[in-house]
Amino acid sequence: MRRNSLLLLLALTTAAAQAAPPDGKALYTTWCAGCHGPKGQGDGPDAKGFDSKPASLAASSYKRGTSDKAVLKIITKGVPGTPMDGYGNKLKDDQRDALVQYLKVLRGEK
Ligand code: HEC
Repeated sequence: MRRNSLLLLLALTTAAAQAAPPDGKALYTTWCAGCHGPKGQGDGPDAKGFDSKPASLAASSYKRGTSDKAVLKIITKGVPGTPMDGYGNKLKDDQRDALVQYLKVLRGEK
């Protein structure tokens, strides 16, 4: 490959990466809504038959707190002994941060 086209490719991929910050809502729909429901009310189709019901993420407070730190920890590590998995290996840091922010929308804070 010629040097110029290599540089162009590099510039394009960098631009694409910067132009698209992770979309919290899209991530939520893909990864979380199946259990927590489209609006976070804990009524997703995959939740049927669970012993522990998925928490309502639309509630104004969560059992384990709603600080960015507390929510990020749950998304990263999950809740042991429940169907709530940790997403530390599946989602990147900025994707998990985008989810932390999107849950504020579900709680009506944003
Ligand atoms: C397989 C079903 C399932 C999926 C998928 C899932 N969760 Fe959960 N989640 C649960 C269950 C069940 C609980 C409740 C655990 C408990 O409190 O016993 C929970 C709890 C939580 C809590 C803690 C709420 C509280 O009151 O402390 C947060 C925050 C959370 N989930 C966020 C997410 C996010 C964000 C995603 C997507 C990345 C996600 N969950 C995906 C099932 C799921």
